[in-house]
Amino acid sequence: MILVTGGAGYIGSHTCIALDEAGFDFVVFDNFCNSSLESLKRVEKIINKEIAYVEGDIRNANDLQSVFDNYKIDSVIHFAGLKAVGESIEKPLEYYDNNLNGTIVLCTIMKKNNCKKIVFSSSATVYGDPHTTPIKEDFPLSATNPYGRTKLFNEEILRDLYTSDHDWKVILLRYFNPVGAHKSGMIGEDPNGIPNNLMPFIAQTAVGKRDELSVFGGDYDTHDGTGVRDYIHVVDLAQGHVKALQKIDSLKEVLTVNLGTGNGYSVLDMVKAFEKASGKKVAYKIVQRRAGDIAKCFADPSYALEVLGWKATKGIDEMCEDSWRWQSNNPNGYTKS
Ligand code: NAD
Ligand code: WQD
Repeated sequence: MILVTGGAGYIGSHTCIALDEAGFDFVVFDNFCNSSLESLKRVEKIINKEIAYVEGDIRNANDLQSVFDNYKIDSVIHFAGLKAVGESIEKPLEYYDNNLNGTIVLCTIMKKNNCKKIVFSSSATVYGDPHTTPIKEDFPLSATNPYGRTKLFNEEILRDLYTSDHDWKVILLRYFNPVGAHKSGMIGEDPNGIPNNLMPFIAQTAVGKRDELSVFGGDYDTHDGTGVRDYIHVVDLAQGHVKALQKIDSLKEVLTVNLGTGNGYSVLDMVKAFEKASGKKVAYKIVQRRAGDIAKCFADPSYALEVLGWKATKGIDEMCEDSWRWQSNNPNGYTKS
């Protein structure tokens, strides 16, 4: 059985479906601090099956031990954590506690129960401001904010565990920019308050919840002056976790893999694609750059194909169509629709 920490969240809920499709049994562990039970209820409808879940906090050893007592856990996919860059600058202790302490408690309980296989949600943020693109896994690492530092430190903690005991099997998946939603339109990204990320902001503008998108910077050294990113469909990303689990038993070292498409799209490319997918106008104005943003970030995804046999299959039109289906069916997200 697979333990999915943070499995009620955006990427976790989509991964539950991919796990089920691939024939893996799983139990979700989540404290619902950034999600709701409703996402799991919807996953149950999609897969037509009840989901095992435990409400608990990864920083609480007793909560976690109860999962190991009640289920035979073989491997862990570790999504649980806080993820807002701006908030991490305001509340560094909360981020270090949740993301670092949480991982330490989780690994301690895993070790105690002789479960030593973990797939960890890392991020392209660990590349800081890359000297060039596309980004390969061996590029220098750095972080510019507490959130990014928690990803870097967690990677180091997991590498140290492997060094201490080669029975550990660790896969570090560095996600680029996850967007999109399940085809059903029943689950998707449901940010609290004003979205920080581009895609939910565009979607909420198209559905009429926001007046206009502020495009952060029009003077970057990119094809149209706006920031370029590697947007990846969350269903492709979910599939990457299945591939990681299928690989994990044969590992001889810590595996670090970019999960991206290899394509860079600008903010304005995304606005245009979303307008096409939704048939709605997305009003925008170009404003000052956002502090800490970089001009360009996109992956070289070739290692993922080589070692995991994984490759993204969905392009930006599908990403936008699926985001729009979720947003237009659920204008107020899960709880308030
Ligand atoms: P999310 O917030 O939707 O999901 C995280 C889940 O973890 C939520 O359900 C939340 O309730 C739960 N959680 C948080 N702290 C917890 C704790 N202490 N104990 C138990 N549960 C807890 O985020 P997401 O977008 O699905 O991201 C999943 C993972 O992927 C995170 O680690 C995130 O940092 C990483 N990641 C996300 C992105 C992105 O842009 N979405 C990019 C790169 C990496
Ligand atoms: C994308 C582009 C913005 C909002 C962040 C984290 C990263 C990872 C993914 C977790 C940029 C522009 C955005 C808006 C805009 N998360 N933008 N107006 O910054 O690439 O990455 O999420 O690991 O760590 O840093 O994603 O979606 O915020 O921004 O113009 O209202 O859209 O400037 O060029 P980012 P994003």
